[in-house]
Amino acid sequence: MKSFTAEKITEKVYWVGAIDWGVRDFHGYLTSRGSTYNAFLIIDEKVTLVDTVKKPFQDEMIARIASVIPPEKIDYIISNHSEMDHTGCLTDMIELAKPEKVYASTMGKKALGLHFHFDDDVITAVKSGETLSLGESNLTFVETRMLHWPDSMVTYLDTEKIMFSQDGFGMHLASTERYDDQLPQQVLYEEAEKYFANILLPFSPMVSGLMKKLADLNLDIELLCPDHGPIWRSDISGILKRWENWAIQKCSRKAVIIYDTMWKSTGLLADAVTDGLVSQGISVKVMPLDSSHRSDVATAVLDSGALLVGSPTINGEMFPRVADVLTYLKGLKPKNLIGAVFGSYGWSGEAVKNVEQCLEKMKIPLAAESLNINYVPDNEALARARSLGVEVGKELNERCNQ
Ligand code: FEO
Repeated sequence: MKSFTAEKITEKVYWVGAIDWGVRDFHGYLTSRGSTYNAFLIIDEKVTLVDTVKKPFQDEMIARIASVIPPEKIDYIISNHSEMDHTGCLTDMIELAKPEKVYASTMGKKALGLHFHFDDDVITAVKSGETLSLGESNLTFVETRMLHWPDSMVTYLDTEKIMFSQDGFGMHLASTERYDDQLPQQVLYEEAEKYFANILLPFSPMVSGLMKKLADLNLDIELLCPDHGPIWRSDISGILKRWENWAIQKCSRKAVIIYDTMWKSTGLLADAVTDGLVSQGISVKVMPLDSSHRSDVATAVLDSGALLVGSPTINGEMFPRVADVLTYLKGLKPKNLIGAVFGSYGWSGEAVKNVEQCLEKMKIPLAAESLNINYVPDNEALARARSLGVEVGKELNERCNQ
């Protein structure tokens, strides 16, 4: 048996999750600080496990459960979200614990059936607003469709005033510290923002709806327990407020320049564009794509008002790393951005047009005429690049003043 111990978080509830110190790629998202898969054990007349962990961490979770109670004594399992980082060991847990019931949302029952090919009677579907008695305490289920999947729900435990929020309000951060106030604030909010940008951004309209739903329910929440990262106990209002703001993506006097370069010509243009933006009081983050990960670009874009893209033309196309990042960003559907495009080419120069088309699909209007320079930019070309930056900066200031 592995040596892992549960952590008691309230009189009735234990953290029995797993710490993934080594994960760095979470389906394309650079998880620089690892992650946790949180699972929670409720000790009441009905012993209840809320969510499970990623398959390779099953032994760790079972060892933590066993430090409190034999796993066979679990009566109920709640599956708030069917993605496999939380259900990877669900089938084995069902086999081991033989729980009386496994609960999920209606969409969760369907998704779990499609993942694990369960017989129809394995999962019991619960409706939004439905309550389940565990003995002294009660669970209330609230559907949160598309946050993060169609099956998602959150579960509230009344006696402990805990909201188990699955992916909601989480972050990828491996730590032995279990609570928000035990971690450096900068790290905490940096990772929370990165998580929102890379996981929740496409669902921003639903996030706004969720915040309203939670406010309407008027639940007394003392612990907000996501399935990744620390438990919120000191700054619950702070993380809720940030989610509200991130979902809106209001105008910001910040710009992100992403570019790749072959023989430094597009890099020279990027420097000149930066200079133009800065002259207008815009805060600029320059992200050369040979050293910037797509998920860090997404985070930078979340609180920016402009996305400027530079690409050389290679074999009639934009640079592969530019295509990678734009494809990723397109899926994340960032809002309220203006854009601009620049690049260098040898004999054909299709990349700029290709990037323009991509921005159009992303509904990012161009704030300046694109710049496509043949081979190495001379002083006149650099002045034009600087002007492009000035134009975008002026437009951004105007938008933010409205
Ligand atoms: Fe942590 Fe959407 O799974």
